[in-house]
Amino acid sequence: MKDKIYIFDTTLRDGEQSPGCSMNTKEKLKMARQLEALNVDVIEAGFPIASEGDFDAVKEISKAITNSTIAALSRATPVDIDRAYEALQYAAKPRIHTFIATSDIHLKHKLKKTREEVLEQSVNAVRYAKKLTQDVEFSCEDASRSDVDYLCLIIESVIEAGATVINLPDTVGYSIPSEYGNMIRTIREKVKNIDKAILSVHCHNDLGLAVANSVAAVLNGARQVECTINGIGERAGNASLEEFAMALRTRQDILPVYSEVRTEEIYKSSRLLSTLTGMMVQRNKAIVGANAFSHEAGIHQDGIIKSRMTYEIMTPESVGIKHSTLVLGKHSGRHALKKRFEELGYSLTSEELENVYTEFTRLADKKKEILDEDLVAILNNEVDRDEFNYSLASLQVMTGTGVKSTAVLELTDGEQTYCDSATGDGPVDAAYNALERIVKMSGQLVDYTITSVTWGGDAVGEVFVKVIFDNVIFTGHAASTDIVTGSVEAYLQAANRALSAKAKKTSSEGAVKNQVNAL
Ligand code: KIV
Ligand code: ZN
Repeated sequence: MKDKIYIFDTTLRDGEQSPGCSMNTKEKLKMARQLEALNVDVIEAGFPIASEGDFDAVKEISKAITNSTIAALSRATPVDIDRAYEALQYAAKPRIHTFIATSDIHLKHKLKKTREEVLEQSVNAVRYAKKLTQDVEFSCEDASRSDVDYLCLIIESVIEAGATVINLPDTVGYSIPSEYGNMIRTIREKVKNIDKAILSVHCHNDLGLAVANSVAAVLNGARQVECTINGIGERAGNASLEEFAMALRTRQDILPVYSEVRTEEIYKSSRLLSTLTGMMVQRNKAIVGANAFSHEAGIHQDGIIKSRMTYEIMTPESVGIKHSTLVLGKHSGRHALKKRFEELGYSLTSEELENVYTEFTRLADKKKEILDEDLVAILNNEVDRDEFNYSLASLQVMTGTGVKSTAVLELTDGEQTYCDSATGDGPVDAAYNALERIVKMSGQLVDYTITSVTWGGDAVGEVFVKVIFDNVIFTGHAASTDIVTGSVEAYLQAANRALSAKAKKTSSEGAVKNQVNAL
């Protein structure tokens, strides 16, 4: 009988804490729902002591998700653990994940503690967490560079104190597969009570070995693997969930383990994350990159036509990439649209269908055939408009060589329309300047990416921007056949987010002031 591998997804914690991947609570909730659809066993939702935003996200995800365990990270201190549990209290299956570094490098330079002190703190932290919840994970940060005998001592002691999962991260992505696998095997052989806990691994990708190390660990007895969608995470990222899950599925012939991930949800999860963060995957990324299932060389195409087995080790359908049998166009109605979305794995509410249908008809006026990629882009483009102040009413630009570009822009807040104009270095810059005059806020554009969703002259372009307003980075995303309009909509989304954040800040400052006045 094969053993199950528990998939612990840390996209919303380790992934989200990496630069350029931040999400707000609503976005994290959306991602968490998709992770639940993917059927991951554990969703690490955040690090509640780190910020109010992380705390809120863990709390809201705990309320919303019932099938997956929700984990919250904490350092090995009572204050952190309390905060983690406070956020987790509504979860159907809560897990406190507490950690401390165990390598001599970290003890000497970061913690300035002795091995004995760290051992004592670890045991105390696990005992403390155990009083709050049954499910307690303990991580030895920088395990792969720690002395293995010391690791064994700590592990045995924290299991004795009640830890149910022991995680041994390759925090700096330093290990190689044989070495990491040996570490797991040694721990299994030397720690007397190891059968009372699940052994977990958490690999970073600094040497590009995160998935290989995870597989080596599994072959040596690890039964939980920590990973992220698209492999996002600190520095070069974490082990990629889709690569690991598909390695398990594809090599069932030799692997003694399986996971319960619904791999057909992989592509959707990857696209959603890219849309939410603006962090696209490279075209040749394994499993989810645009080229992952395309065959260019003539000899390969010939082989594929004769039998897909010649050059395809897994099918696009197995990761949720589906090919249309039905081409949608301007004469397609709501029913056909709804059906196509269902075939693609999305069930839309009537409100979502209505919004998407409006966008669909607009696009169909410009583009003869609407492809699946366009539909997903339209759907992901449907932001929660109600929480935003402004939407684009109209845009005119005048541009050319040797002239300063001018933009005339109209924004509406639903009641009133605001109009302004500005010049700039090119049409996008001019429109951004006009936009900033209307919203009375000036931002610094730090990232601007434009990619084509499909191909051809009428292809939909997706624009991602990162803009700093008041020292905070806000992201924006939009899809349009017109790149200047898409660029303005993306910038407007970032500005709307900044305005919402500002309004929230002002109202909580007001509440604090009122409380102080009431004292
Ligand atoms: O990489 C690491 O060591 C971590 C731990 C906090 C689990 O992310
Ligand atoms: Zn990590």
